[in-house]
Amino acid sequence: MKKQVVVYKKLSPELMARLQAQAEVTLIEDLSPAGMQRLRQALPRAQGLLGASLRLDAELLDLAPQLEAVASVSVGVDNYDIDYLSQRRILLSNTPDVLTETTADTGFALILATARRVVELATLVRAGQWNSNIGPRHFGSDVHGKTLGIIGMGRIGEALAQRGHFGFGMPLIYHSNSPKPAVEARFNARYCSLEQLLQEADFICLTLPLTAQTHGLIGAREFELMRPESIFINISRGKVVDEGAMIEALQQRKIRAAGLDVFEREPLDHDSPLLQLDNVVATPHIGSATHETREAMARCAVDNLLAALAGQRPANLVNPQLWPQAAG
Ligand code: DGY
Repeated sequence: MKKQVVVYKKLSPELMARLQAQAEVTLIEDLSPAGMQRLRQALPRAQGLLGASLRLDAELLDLAPQLEAVASVSVGVDNYDIDYLSQRRILLSNTPDVLTETTADTGFALILATARRVVELATLVRAGQWNSNIGPRHFGSDVHGKTLGIIGMGRIGEALAQRGHFGFGMPLIYHSNSPKPAVEARFNARYCSLEQLLQEADFICLTLPLTAQTHGLIGAREFELMRPESIFINISRGKVVDEGAMIEALQQRKIRAAGLDVFEREPLDHDSPLLQLDNVVATPHIGSATHETREAMARCAVDNLLAALAGQRPANLVNPQLWPQAAG
């Protein structure tokens, strides 16, 4: 008998067909209140779940007593109660690797956009305010040759380092749980404390996951350590930063600018003070949002889910302690 799968993210026809060949699929088109109602109704028979952007906590999981596997279409797993999933012996998988380069591209887009004031000045042109050659009031700052500071040297951090080092000749400093000799050798990078990095880097880029340890890592004290020339880039998770402290630092020009793809609350409130600041470039969590990468992520999630439901180890198992016991 085919297993029951609930999908709460739209898949391409090709991937939907692959899933349907192996499982009975219920598609929840969106996570509106009506969609959530349909999801709750479908959970009691679900053996597999596939989707993203939904906080899957004990309350929802308790509606799914038959659940065997959850495949997240994301690399970040901060939306999942991993302890509870593991306690229930439910396999959780994610989609690393396939989004690394695209997310690093987004990071660099924000670096260039903030330093060269691309959005602000393009808006000026569009508004018909380009009336003479621009002068120092509208100059930006260089990217090449400036010090790139990366907080969290995982896959995406490395991809950002590659772009900075080989593409823009940027001296590289980084902070992570532990020094990474291979990264240091490849990019001539220097490991340093968080405090040192905040004081020295021209571009401070967050690429680390949201966990209990990183929640609120960058707050008022950390913004105080940055310099008025510093540009702050966040492509990780909004909750790693105290947004109120960041807004204050930007308003008081304690830092030059911020390029932000993630926020404490998403979608960002339309009346957020961030949107009043011309030294902020805000994008709607587009780190991995290209046609190619989102399809690759969805394919990876489908592969993970089908493997798990077939009693095989998913390639990207987040709770490996369940294996091989979970297969029974
Ligand atoms: C990820 O994959 O974690 C991206 O941030 C999209 O949520």
